[in-house]
Amino acid sequence: MSSLLSSAWAPLAGLGLATPSWALTAVAAAAALALVPAARRRWHLSRAKHRSLAGHSRMAKRVAGWVPGYRLEGPRVYDADGAPPEVAAQRQAALQAQAERWRVRFARTLAATSQARSGLSDLQFTGAYRVPFPFSDALRQHLPVGAFVEHSDGFTVADLDGNTFIDLTGSYGVNVFGQDFYKACIEEATRRARPLGAVLGAYHPCVADVVARLQRISGLEEVSFHMSGTEAVMQAVRLARYHTGRRHLVRFAGAYHGWWEDVQPGPGNPMPPRETYTLAEMSERSLRVLRERSDIACVLVNPLQALHPNKAAPGDSSLVDGSRRAGYDRAAYTRWLQQLREVCTARGIVLIFDEVFLGFRLDPRGAQAYFGVRADLVTYGKTLGGGLPVGVLCGRHALMKRYREDRPADLCFARGTFNAHPYVMCAMQVFLERLESPEICHHYVGLDERFEDRARRLNAALQEAGAPVRARAMSSVWTIEYTQPGRYHWMFQYHLREQGLALSWVGTGRLIFPLTMDERTFDEVVRRFVRAAQTMQAAGWWWHDGQTTHADLRRRVIGEMLTAWWAARRGPRGPAQGAGDGRLSRPGDPALQKTEAARADPAARPEAGAAVPSSTA
Ligand SMILES: Cc1ncc(COP(=O)(O)O)c(C=O)c1O
Repeated sequence: MSSLLSSAWAPLAGLGLATPSWALTAVAAAAALALVPAARRRWHLSRAKHRSLAGHSRMAKRVAGWVPGYRLEGPRVYDADGAPPEVAAQRQAALQAQAERWRVRFARTLAATSQARSGLSDLQFTGAYRVPFPFSDALRQHLPVGAFVEHSDGFTVADLDGNTFIDLTGSYGVNVFGQDFYKACIEEATRRARPLGAVLGAYHPCVADVVARLQRISGLEEVSFHMSGTEAVMQAVRLARYHTGRRHLVRFAGAYHGWWEDVQPGPGNPMPPRETYTLAEMSERSLRVLRERSDIACVLVNPLQALHPNKAAPGDSSLVDGSRRAGYDRAAYTRWLQQLREVCTARGIVLIFDEVFLGFRLDPRGAQAYFGVRADLVTYGKTLGGGLPVGVLCGRHALMKRYREDRPADLCFARGTFNAHPYVMCAMQVFLERLESPEICHHYVGLDERFEDRARRLNAALQEAGAPVRARAMSSVWTIEYTQPGRYHWMFQYHLREQGLALSWVGTGRLIFPLTMDERTFDEVVRRFVRAAQTMQAAGWWWHDGQTTHADLRRRVIGEMLTAWWAARRGPRGPAQGAGDGRLSRPGDPALQKTEAARADPAARPEAGAAVPSSTA
């Protein structure tokens, strides 16, 4: 605050030469008085940030840039938690045996994946972030994950080798009613759209019906169509800015709203955070900021965060010690949304519910109806397209208007070639029709209780098997916690996969069930989970000396990073090009070529290494 005052005072300082001192004092006092509220607001803003890195985008970005790339090799892959040699040997033997089974069972799928990998950047990206990065190379070498499936049926998917998996990926959340439902939507949509084909610009007649249905569901007056959830969120924020004349948006720590610039500040975004305030969710301090500031256009809420407020979507690549925790309290989250509603109304801030993920999963009328709180703008996507790509924005008339009657050149532009594509619109119409059918409606009856009961059953079975694993549920969206510290919990995803459970690339961080999954299939999920836990246990990955804490394991990781950072600085390429800047080796970098050669020929790999910097491996 003092620096703020002194810098504000500086332009006035020159006046002192010609101004009486009493006048100067009065000016100083006035300036101080004027600045106190601003300084207090700034202070409150800082206090409303969640204390984790997720709440500090700028700092998180800086820290991410410092993390040195390194990989564990040889024995270090197996004893990174301080396990004794016999446990490390047990793990190594188990991994090798699993790798042999893996290669036979997934031969065709793995061959196709390996062929596609170099030309498919998304595949390289997801493959690199399946487990904590120091283990990534070793796991890709032993247990590469096939990326292709060619058949789905009910609740299962089958790979190119004919292996059938119960699908817990939920297709990123799209799959609310089972794959057959979406196949039927797309088939029926194709029949309805075929007479028109891919004519764009003019609307297919189904659009009027779709709009009417969405108005009823959202309780909002207008609808706009987009091609993805990300675009729908972009449009919501843009409209909020246009109508309020304010620039800043508030998002809550950890919440995902797509990959567009302003809603994804921090790591992953090359640009520095700009007009985004990332505040702590479920916090009185954040409400105070909303009450005090007059530069906030909108607040974005992703209700999925109720499962893990203020934390980013859980992925196994961040399972460095097993301290991941989650828990869903519907009543508490409802109170939070009500408070947000009140303060946004009082301050003229646009409240946006981002229901791209959860819309239609909790309630046929979405999260607004489920929590009993109304938003000003609501985004939908994913499942609403009936299996085809879509983003939808619903809002109050005054907020959705993209031009001003009295100033026709002052627009809020938003269009897109493929918006309202006839096939997508027809698939959405079929989806919305079926959403009202008795066969679908009955799946919502007792939904939360059904999935909570299932989570209890799974947890009881895991407890009985002595496995340090528990599921936490927000209705049909689950995440897995680990009940003891460990550095190898991420191995569990490979055991689940081997037992025929398909997980998305975030592994055990998120399991997504179709609402329609029957008890028999769920019982089979439980059996497979328990078998996976038993094989994981038998392989020694859950060895624990009874004393090591999460903090001990984190200290080990920091020690490895420092070693790698130091080794990179002392390496032949020197500090400027080493891993110390946090980047991995660059294409054309001799160090990278060496890594690739080692990958192609495992025999050439250094086996005695500890923490090997990526840039020098
Ligand atoms: C809450 C939320 N908003 C926005 C998006 C972005 O949607 P899309 O991937 O269709 O761009 C997602 C995607 O997962 C999401 O979960």
